[in-house]
Amino acid sequence: METIQHSLEQAFTKAIHAAFGVAADPLITVSATPQFGDYQSNAAMGLSKRLAAGGTKTSPRQIAEQVIANLDLGKMVDAPLGTRDIAGPGFINIRLSPSWLAGRLDEISRDPRLGVPRASAAIRTVVDYSGPNVAKQMHVGHLRSTIIGDAISRVIEHLHGAENVIRQNHIGDWGTQFGMLIAHLRHGTGNSPSVEGASVTPESHIADLEEFYRQAKKRFDEDAAFQDEARKTVVRLQSGEPAERDAWQKIVLETRRDYQPIYLRLNVKLREEDERGESFYNPFLADVVNHLKQKGLAVESEGATVVFVDGPDKPPMIIEKTGGGYLYATTDLAGVRYRIQELHAKHLIYTHDSRQANHFRQVFDTARKAGWAGNDVQLDYTPFGTMLGADGKPFKTRSGDTVKLKDLLDEAEERGYQIAKEKSGSRGTDISDEQLKAIGRAIGIGAIKYSDLSKDRTSDYVFSWEKMLSMDGNTAPYLQYAYARTRSIQRKAGKTDSPPAGINLTQPAELILAKHILRFGEAIEIVARDLKPHLLCLYLYDLATKFSGFFENCPVIQSEEPIRASRLALCDVTARTLAQGLDLLGIEHPEQM
Ligand code: ARG
Repeated sequence: METIQHSLEQAFTKAIHAAFGVAADPLITVSATPQFGDYQSNAAMGLSKRLAAGGTKTSPRQIAEQVIANLDLGKMVDAPLGTRDIAGPGFINIRLSPSWLAGRLDEISRDPRLGVPRASAAIRTVVDYSGPNVAKQMHVGHLRSTIIGDAISRVIEHLHGAENVIRQNHIGDWGTQFGMLIAHLRHGTGNSPSVEGASVTPESHIADLEEFYRQAKKRFDEDAAFQDEARKTVVRLQSGEPAERDAWQKIVLETRRDYQPIYLRLNVKLREEDERGESFYNPFLADVVNHLKQKGLAVESEGATVVFVDGPDKPPMIIEKTGGGYLYATTDLAGVRYRIQELHAKHLIYTHDSRQANHFRQVFDTARKAGWAGNDVQLDYTPFGTMLGADGKPFKTRSGDTVKLKDLLDEAEERGYQIAKEKSGSRGTDISDEQLKAIGRAIGIGAIKYSDLSKDRTSDYVFSWEKMLSMDGNTAPYLQYAYARTRSIQRKAGKTDSPPAGINLTQPAELILAKHILRFGEAIEIVARDLKPHLLCLYLYDLATKFSGFFENCPVIQSEEPIRASRLALCDVTARTLAQGLDLLGIEHPEQM
């Protein structure tokens, strides 16, 4: 099903062509206030200039008149547009017919996609997000990347099909630090690699591993002989010695044991098979450097191999160190090439914090010049700001330590549980403790995700339990509650079929709600274009608010038929739209709260 915006665009494009024989974007937008109708075309001003340049002088108002004279909106409007629909210098206002809107909503209520069209041409997309580092805790920056990247992936999946979205978890599983870690592992007592209380056994947790990392680093910094051993170890690892390879694998496995459960708790779709860590690209790095040298893009400079991305006077991007050894940039260059040539992606998205802006700019620029990313490939870096504490400084625990994600999620679930308990207690409903825990989990985890997703990702954002768990405002609990309410209305109403007489929109609050529901597809398309999940949050928040307006003004269950059935249908489409929207954000929506 086409969006209303798109149907209008087609009708106007045709009218403009019929009137002036030119192809022009009709510049259709949603009207800012009801006084200007539901949608507007703002094309007349531009057309006037364009025609004047061609020698014909026509005022924007005259142009608007001629467009209208050629316009056929069919049943979308109650009467053909006239001069009263032209405002100011030449804006054309479009007021949609309530009966047409009702018919449209009726159709959408039967559409499993709720009127969201599939992309006209599916594009294969790779989304690179999360990317935790081995032997280290996942930090809040990784949390943001994970949450935002997953929402972006879900939205694109919805438009382009799941088969066209490839998630890639570029974990930091390679580099010189592994020499030190393996050497330290080997210094453990006998075969059980336990070091001063920090054991690396198959059962051990990342907290231990991180302590292990700290100790290895300390030893490395203090002990020259150990340093030497670590360096030799890294060479052995890189040349594929089985013993070193085994030890390395063990450390990677330990880390995966820590972050994989976090993805599950966060309701994030990343799985082990989405992992393409830095190590995966090892076999390609030498060739990447060679190719760039051949193309004259990479040169020797002070013993290293570098690319002067920003000109000879600016610091270059290093791709091979003096004496050998590749870098973060080399791996990402290999990644771009792999994703385009092997995964056949036409769109690459990297959701990582804004401090990596320069890195990705340089990588993209080089990949373009190298010919790996042609004009048919879109490269997007979708950065996000820093997560801040209430004090406006980077988010830390009270004692100033970095926050462990596991603890953060535990706290979220506990807080959500308390809210669920309170709510059910105050209404005297008897929900089992198990159900309350599930609802609490949805609330708590949903709150963390939603508070992140609902801010424009490019800005820093302040983490606040109070705000994110509030029942009012643009929060997860508010939306989840709105959803549960629509469901409870339906439960009270008992089983109903779709309204025999179709949906009828007579009250202003009904019309306002209906028009918003009909914009769902437009909202999703904008989110996918701008890669900004907060626009979906805003859409859903408006939807919940408009639903409240409807529910306060229009009795549902107490109404007589056929109004009752029509309003129940409106409740149902609202519920399904809320649910679909929350699903696209990866946020759960319990049936009851
Ligand atoms: N491991 C990196 C970090 O912790 C993130 C990886 C980002 N992805 C990429 N393709 N470079 O900062």
